[in-house]
Amino acid sequence: MKPEDTALNGSRIFIVAATWKICHLIHCFKPKRPEGNHYNSTSNDPTMRVLILGIDGYIGWPLALHLLERGHNVSGIDNFYTRKRVKEVHSASAIGIGTMKSRLNKIRDETGKDIGFVRGDVSEPRIVYDSVKKFNPDCVVHLAEQRSAPYSMIGLKQATETLQKNMIGTLNLVYALKDHAPNCHLLKLGTMGEYGTPNIDIPEGFFNIEYNGRRDFLPFPKNAGSWYHWSKVHDSNNLMFANRLWEIGVTDVMQGVVYGTRTDALMHLKSSTRLDIDEVWGTALNRFCAQAVAGLPITPYGKGGQTRGFLSLDDSIQCLTIAAENPPEKGEYRVFNQFDDYYSVMDLANEVKRIYDMGHKDPAVIENVPNPRIEKEAHYYNPEMKKLRELGYRPRRSLQEGISEIIRDLEKHRKRILGLREVIMPRTTWKESKGLS
Ligand SMILES: NC(=O)c1ccc[n+]([C@@H]2O[C@H](COP(=O)([O-])OP(=O)(O)OC[C@H]3O[C@@H](n4cnc5c(N)ncnc54)[C@H](O)[C@@H]3O)[C@@H](O)[C@H]2O)c1
Repeated sequence: MKPEDTALNGSRIFIVAATWKICHLIHCFKPKRPEGNHYNSTSNDPTMRVLILGIDGYIGWPLALHLLERGHNVSGIDNFYTRKRVKEVHSASAIGIGTMKSRLNKIRDETGKDIGFVRGDVSEPRIVYDSVKKFNPDCVVHLAEQRSAPYSMIGLKQATETLQKNMIGTLNLVYALKDHAPNCHLLKLGTMGEYGTPNIDIPEGFFNIEYNGRRDFLPFPKNAGSWYHWSKVHDSNNLMFANRLWEIGVTDVMQGVVYGTRTDALMHLKSSTRLDIDEVWGTALNRFCAQAVAGLPITPYGKGGQTRGFLSLDDSIQCLTIAAENPPEKGEYRVFNQFDDYYSVMDLANEVKRIYDMGHKDPAVIENVPNPRIEKEAHYYNPEMKKLRELGYRPRRSLQEGISEIIRDLEKHRKRILGLREVIMPRTTWKESKGLS
């Protein structure tokens, strides 16, 4: 890690906050959709037909609302996999979200528009084929995967489920697109975790390499840290190959960790998205905020020097919208690194504590716990992130604003969170992943 990145000290926070403020003022902030940039259409109509696989999820639902507000025709598929698996570990979304039926009805009441919905498993080829054929999308956003690293490490059963379901869903999709929508843009969610933490800069997907006197431009080596992250690496390889075979236009998004509870569309339409805070399904920053609100220690793993890219939910939706509305060239496979900034886990714990303590009598407590994962706790980290910025992405929410909002929103659900206390602290350990028992 570069020395200047090792601490989220006061001056860095100030610079980030000031930069964000300037960006916010300049862009103020609906990104303009390029007219006539419709991937699959010969008409000048800039609206698209967007099919979202995983529409019931943390990112899928606010993305659907945002695209609907921008005039696109939105439909989705989900089998409520996350709801079921979260329940299995005796947990629940910290923020209640209602049934899909009630969500869809409410949006119809608010906007007069319908979001199409099919309940189904994308690892079933028929579900994907029928939906692609019927809806004839210009863009498919594929979010419908098992997305928890700890879940994939519980044992052989969960590892198998993660690798099979994730890879098969993506394979079903590329075949369905080849057969029924060959010009459709496939916007697929991968993760920055695919790259691991190499001791050199991380490019966006490809890099120039010279070896034994010869040069090439090759995919950057991947070095994932859980079966979940490896499933995304395998997806990326399969997408590259499908692109080579059938010229399917692909954006493979290497996304950082997403935090936050709010987006503009969620606020306008008085809706909410799920927020997982337990040790299996919750992600770092969201969980730290929940720990503070529940009066539990904030628990960075090990020394807390693990550094990762992060972005707010609002920025994730902004980036995905930009990617959807600026599709790749026909036959192009492109990789976007998608994050706002990178922070060490310890920096984030300190920042949550600082912000929480400003508004509360009893201070939050930080307690470093033994690291349940196999990962470096101090390392170099310098990923590139240029392509989305070139297309107009500017962060809309600062880290500080995001943390304050999560804390404020979670406080409204404090009772519910206190009921989840038992499942927040880490238990799943990589080394003890269970085999056949
Ligand atoms: N949230 C993050 O921090 C983050 C970071 C990097 C990448 N991602 C990726 O972004 C995508 C969305 O993440 P999220 O946080 O919204 O997760 P999520 O679990 O909240 O949403 C995924 C949705 O897909 C559905 N789903 C899963 N498997 C399915 C299947 N086989 N068939 C049909 N539906 C299925 C789930 O029920 C859920 O509603 C995932 O692919 C995830 O790996 C997320």
